[in-house]
Amino acid sequence: MTRTVVLTGASDGIGAAAAARLAADHRLVLVGRNPDKTHAVAERVGADAVFVADFAVLDQVRELAARIAERYDRIDVLANNAGGLFSGPTITGDGVELTFQVNHLAPFLLTELLRPRFTPDTAVVNTSSIAARLFSSFRVEDLDTSRRYRPERAYGNAKLANILHTKGLHARGIRSVAFHPGNVATSFASDTTSPLRWVYTTVLNRSLITPEAGGSTLEFFIRSDAWTSGEYYGSAHKPGRTSRKAADPALAEQLWTGSERLLGR
Ligand SMILES: NC(=O)c1ccc[n+]([C@@H]2O[C@H](COP(=O)([O-])OP(=O)(O)OC[C@H]3O[C@@H](n4cnc5c(N)ncnc54)[C@H](OP(=O)(O)O)[C@@H]3O)[C@@H](O)[C@H]2O)c1
Repeated sequence: MTRTVVLTGASDGIGAAAAARLAADHRLVLVGRNPDKTHAVAERVGADAVFVADFAVLDQVRELAARIAERYDRIDVLANNAGGLFSGPTITGDGVELTFQVNHLAPFLLTELLRPRFTPDTAVVNTSSIAARLFSSFRVEDLDTSRRYRPERAYGNAKLANILHTKGLHARGIRSVAFHPGNVATSFASDTTSPLRWVYTTVLNRSLITPEAGGSTLEFFIRSDAWTSGEYYGSAHKPGRTSRKAADPALAEQLWTGSERLLGR
């Protein structure tokens, strides 16, 4: 049976590359922020459906989930891939720091709202990052890193949250995995004042892998079940080293309840 895959961050970079590799034998439901880019990718790969939502606005995520749930009875894979490194601190209209909201809270909400469409075999694939190990200093009392903000710290903490979300889903009996796609030449750091942007926007980007290579890693986790639920992978096939905090089940639960509190659930 053709599997239905909901893929966010599908309008560019790793997500668009993965979509092109999956389209032939999956029912693809593509989600992006920029309407023109998202529709162009959907048309190019032959997606089953295309939706647009800005994760900086949680009501758009709620509407997105309602429209997907209305159209599809079952979801086989939810790939939470949208994300990026931003400037700030920027507090959204929902009262949450932008980096945390786009990279973690919005995908957390989308996952919760789509859960009624999951089967016992549904997989949630979270695009995390090596930044969780390199830049995080996660504190529950500053969940969205709005107080001790630096772009890299906020990003590292949000990508650690992706791994803790994976652990929380696994603890609730939902198959889930988090992974680092490699250091990929995309535009994910084009909207930040972080020094990291130089790696992505100058000749230094020659050291990066292509979106196609990053997309093939995402494709692996969507297509295959040859991974261990609840794990973080540093590449396809290999569980990786990350922040020690990712192994703390109490912290995963604190993030879970803190996220629900921020969402008023
Ligand atoms: N590139 C790397 O080296 C690297 C390394 C580790 C992890 N990652 C992770 O990989 C994932 C994909 O990033 P990428 O490298 O492919 O970057 P990218 O080319 O910039 O793609 C980012 C995707 O996220 C979407 N997005 C950004 N802000 C959004 C928002 N407010 N609401 C909804 N969607 C939003 C973008 O939508 P639009 O284009 O429509 O605006 C785009 O589809 C991210 O989670 C990133 O953190 C990347």
